[in-house]
Amino acid sequence: MSARRTSIHGSWSSRLAFVLAATGSAVGLGNIWKFPYIAGEHGGGAFVLVYLVCIAIIGIPIMMAEVMLGRRGRQSPINTMRTLAQEAGADPRWSWLGWAGVAGGFLILSYYSVIAGWALAYVFRAGSGMFTGVTADGVASIFNALVTDPERLLAWHTIFMVMTMIVVARGVRSGLEQAVRYMVPALFVILILLNGYALAEGSYDLGLRFLFDADFSKIDANGILIAMGHAFFTLSLGMGAIMVYGSYLPEHASIARTSITISVLDTLVALLAGMAIFPIVFANGLEPGAGPGLIFQTLPIAFGHMTGGALFGTLFFVLLVFAAWTSAISLIEPAVAWLVENRGMTRVHASVLAGVVTWVFGLLTVFSFNLWADFKPMAWLEVFRDATLFDLLDYLTANIMLPLGGLFIALFAAWVMKRDDSLEELDMGDGPAYRLWRFLVRYVTPVAVLIVFLNVTGLVDFGHLLGAG
Ligand code: PHE
Repeated sequence: MSARRTSIHGSWSSRLAFVLAATGSAVGLGNIWKFPYIAGEHGGGAFVLVYLVCIAIIGIPIMMAEVMLGRRGRQSPINTMRTLAQEAGADPRWSWLGWAGVAGGFLILSYYSVIAGWALAYVFRAGSGMFTGVTADGVASIFNALVTDPERLLAWHTIFMVMTMIVVARGVRSGLEQAVRYMVPALFVILILLNGYALAEGSYDLGLRFLFDADFSKIDANGILIAMGHAFFTLSLGMGAIMVYGSYLPEHASIARTSITISVLDTLVALLAGMAIFPIVFANGLEPGAGPGLIFQTLPIAFGHMTGGALFGTLFFVLLVFAAWTSAISLIEPAVAWLVENRGMTRVHASVLAGVVTWVFGLLTVFSFNLWADFKPMAWLEVFRDATLFDLLDYLTANIMLPLGGLFIALFAAWVMKRDDSLEELDMGDGPAYRLWRFLVRYVTPVAVLIVFLNVTGLVDFGHLLGAG
């Protein structure tokens, strides 16, 4: 019973508004900044294939599960999990899953905001014509001048956090809904334009072969974990962002259809970004494994050499900032919703509090690129030999916390929640589609996540099954 709760935070004006907001959450730095550089670091094609498989068999079903739980519980993920656990006669400590998500959201946003700050800085670099005729060495030194200056990074990080807090404070309808409508289509247009440049001036063949030729000898167990973690990260899954957005979703919107739409759009943006970047990498003798600076050291070359490049460059970085902005708000929304529900705060107070906490954590990332660049706290473990605090934060959240969160969401949705309840909430009939979903979240997702975890710890080696060395 009681599927007809309402949210005290209001709701989206329509299904389309939800699609836009959730797409805004999903499409972000993950697609344009992170996907290309981690694909580059892990050898390309095989990594991309593992990522795509994870989107299809883990990402989409988990997204459906998260939206479903959110819409049924109609509260912050913490309270939603408690309510739904009680409804299913299970332990109310399922609310801890919500807490873990809140923690993950803070940690992710703390570094996300710093990188978004880079994009903000690049709006001005592109706009001032700094990239005109630039060489590969030139872009590298522009990038290094930015990240090695802690004061500048701090300033941009602060500006981005303030922007995020303002939108979150304004609340569901007026604040969160508007940005995406033009942003995602515009992003598509500019990525296609960049592909045009890459095709004309870059090594398009080499770039595409790098991205799509799957050579499994180039990926190891850790690379597989990172590809899976990225499937969660890029779709905003495993920490309650999509759950809290689902809690504002009107009745009678098809959860399956929306989840598939969002996932497909998100994947297309990532692939288009990769297809623009790698041809430029190879044509200019750059290193595909260059790390977090990859897009900031490749795309300016394209903007510096095409007609109208200053304009398109500015526009591109503006869009990247928007994409990051609409993701950032979803990263603290679970915490803000909880503070409003349980601490009686106004949205303004809750946003400021959450924003300040995140800002402070952000300092760890700011200093990882300069003052503490040589601080490698876990260098004793081979995989983390070169990992700064920023790298470790990213690894912990994207590759451990999100997949674990997703695992528990799957277990709850398919093993704890009553079948009739999920059947009712998904509202797609008891046909093959529902059964496929249930099979995937019941068996495939948990087993896949566990195998990938065990594989990394060396307890299971399925690399051989895939033909890896
Ligand atoms: N999906 C966002 C991106 O790709 C990041 C994100 C992760 C947002 C988790 C919310 C929750 O940039």
